[in-house]
Amino acid sequence: MTGMGNVREQAAFQDFVGASRRFWSERMLPVLTAEADAARRGPAPIDEATLAARLSERPTYDFFCWLERHLQRMKYSGPRGIVAALDARRDEFEAMLARPLPDGALRLDPDLALPGYYVDCDIHQQPGGLWSDPLGGAIYREAAGGSAGVVARSGLHDRFTSVVAAEMPEGWARLVDLGCGYGKSALPFARSRPEAVTVGVDLAAPALRLAAQLAADMQARNLRYLQADARATGLPAGEADVVTSTMVLHELPPDVIEAMLREAHRLLRPGGLSIHLDFLPANDAFARLLHFGHGRRNNEPFMEPLARMDLAAAHRAAGFEAFRVTAFEDEDGALDRPPDRKWRLPWAVVLARKPS
Ligand SMILES: C[S@@+](CC[C@H](N)C(=O)[O-])C[C@H]1O[C@@H](n2cnc3c(N)ncnc32)[C@H](O)[C@@H]1O
Repeated sequence: MTGMGNVREQAAFQDFVGASRRFWSERMLPVLTAEADAARRGPAPIDEATLAARLSERPTYDFFCWLERHLQRMKYSGPRGIVAALDARRDEFEAMLARPLPDGALRLDPDLALPGYYVDCDIHQQPGGLWSDPLGGAIYREAAGGSAGVVARSGLHDRFTSVVAAEMPEGWARLVDLGCGYGKSALPFARSRPEAVTVGVDLAAPALRLAAQLAADMQARNLRYLQADARATGLPAGEADVVTSTMVLHELPPDVIEAMLREAHRLLRPGGLSIHLDFLPANDAFARLLHFGHGRRNNEPFMEPLARMDLAAAHRAAGFEAFRVTAFEDEDGALDRPPDRKWRLPWAVVLARKPS
């Protein structure tokens, strides 16, 4: 196979994975929902385990779970997966990541100890996670934006930036984005307020290297990246107007969330805003069965602990007040659409204030 033939075959394979994922989301989910409604009929409410047992009496549920797990694996792994595709262009990516950056754009810490929960699990089924391969950030970016991506629809991060702006009508001069990845969440904040400073913090050097290159390409000079643990960033206390995170809480064990909230409180000025975009399922057996199963099948083991933890108490213990959770409209009409129309993560905004 020629190099170009390989590229075409990989693209066709990824299209197939994306189309299969849409079949799973838009054709299988309605059937499974109807089966769940039938399984739940009766006077007494049933829990997730009972519902799963009843659903397993028919084949749809098993196929649904199998496809979710294995389409995600096929996206990343194997000869036509994203890892192989980017590996074939390794030299090109490594040269891009090695380009000189403006002073202060990126501060890496080669001695940073990566926590066990982070290195022990290949998050999202990405082989080696975001941190172990110099191309880890580029691989994640390709997966998030590729045809089979479910969380990287264009505009998602811009929508969240607008939510934050509505909570801070006076604007912000300094924002810290914890768990910024390759910068998809930090960049819209920086672009929306060029006069403010945005600092993106992450554990993964490969993601931060890519983030800093993308920011340099876009001439986003008000954006800085720092390799640090969100629990102990080393940034100055009391200077941030906003501390935020996007799709990070569900990747952390509860005790790490508690420590991250304490760090957010330390970083904020009095009256500052702590605001996080994440996933919290409704109190409904089928919604929770789907969501917790998604976490297991996607190698995101802390989805369920996040949904079960007392976030209000964790915020109070960290010193916050005015805790609130609101639904997040990830695309137009998402909150009005019947839930069986297509599969959707239960997006939620979690916010609180540091007392003035
Ligand atoms: C799903 S990604 C989200 C990335 C980005 N916020 C976005 O919206 O695209 C979660 C990120 O959290 C980072 N992360 C996990 N634990 C962390 C910690 N303790 N401190 C800092 N970053 C962490 C991961 O490296 C990863 O980049």
